[in-house]
Amino acid sequence: MATLAQVLRPILQTFDSARFPDLLVGLEGPDDAAVYRLTDDLAIIQTVDFFPPVVDDPYQFGAIAAANAMSDVYAMGGEVLMALNIAGFPEDLDPEILARIFLGGAEKVAEAGGVIAGGHTIYDAEPKYGLAVTGIINPRDVLTKGGAQAGDALVLTKPLGTGIVLTAARAGRDEAGYAAAAVESMLALNRHASHLARAAHAHAMTDVTGFGLLGHAREMADAAGLRFVIEASRVPALPGALAYALEGNIPGGAVRNREGLAGHVEIAPGVAEASEHLLFDPQTSGGLLIALPPSDADALVASLHADRLPGAVIGRVERGAGVLAVAKMSTRPL
Ligand code: CO
Ligand code: CO
Repeated sequence: MATLAQVLRPILQTFDSARFPDLLVGLEGPDDAAVYRLTDDLAIIQTVDFFPPVVDDPYQFGAIAAANAMSDVYAMGGEVLMALNIAGFPEDLDPEILARIFLGGAEKVAEAGGVIAGGHTIYDAEPKYGLAVTGIINPRDVLTKGGAQAGDALVLTKPLGTGIVLTAARAGRDEAGYAAAAVESMLALNRHASHLARAAHAHAMTDVTGFGLLGHAREMADAAGLRFVIEASRVPALPGALAYALEGNIPGGAVRNREGLAGHVEIAPGVAEASEHLLFDPQTSGGLLIALPPSDADALVASLHADRLPGAVIGRVERGAGVLAVAKMSTRPL
């Protein structure tokens, strides 16, 4: 995180936000996507994301990359309009594999109500795929990371553990279809969860990806100038994730997350070791972390479940700073 901030500093120093009053969300904040106002009622959302294969099946990889890239539009509260493919692949790669990756991406974008409108592909020693996504939103409906209020409840819409389960799968482990459950979770769009969050008066939202739950909670806490308290025992885990973590299936990204968050995140005594691994675990195409009025939180979880989506209340927002993970919440919400 520090490295990215360093390389962006020269751009930020020359950036004059007063010259771009319609750039509602840009480089200055830690947000999921850029938002540019076109009219009083219409803004475009732009985001881009790409990475090397996370699963062996090319179709699934394409679909997961697309769900992950579009997730940033849903984290802002918007809808996907169209997307462009970005791909790199070795010269000797079977073209059929690339075709399967593109098909997975295109069908996932179509499921979201959008369309692949073009793209660009280069030769690259290691395959990579992702999308540049364009979405739309009413400027008044934009949900940033910084809108949380003291007393808010925190809801998470997907179980954690994709990094741990994929690490175990790469090591040849796959009991009881645990890897398939992780893939299914990564394939799931955050679109309808975003609709339900907006209907439940969400104040702030982000999608949980590479920095893990604690890293993304920290971004939201800092942006709001508040403290996020997460009750570790309430955070849902993918099947197998806790056991795999205790067996040492810890992705490198989790180690970097832990180092990067030192001083900003506090793990209270009593938090189980496996839960702690889960909280730092980098997610691919993870769920939404939503701050909303506590009176709306149970209704949001009920509506997620009614529509066959996962979701749980996992904590609350307090005055203070940083993120605190506790084994059990001591008192009822503020
Ligand atoms: Co994001
Ligand atoms: Co919906």
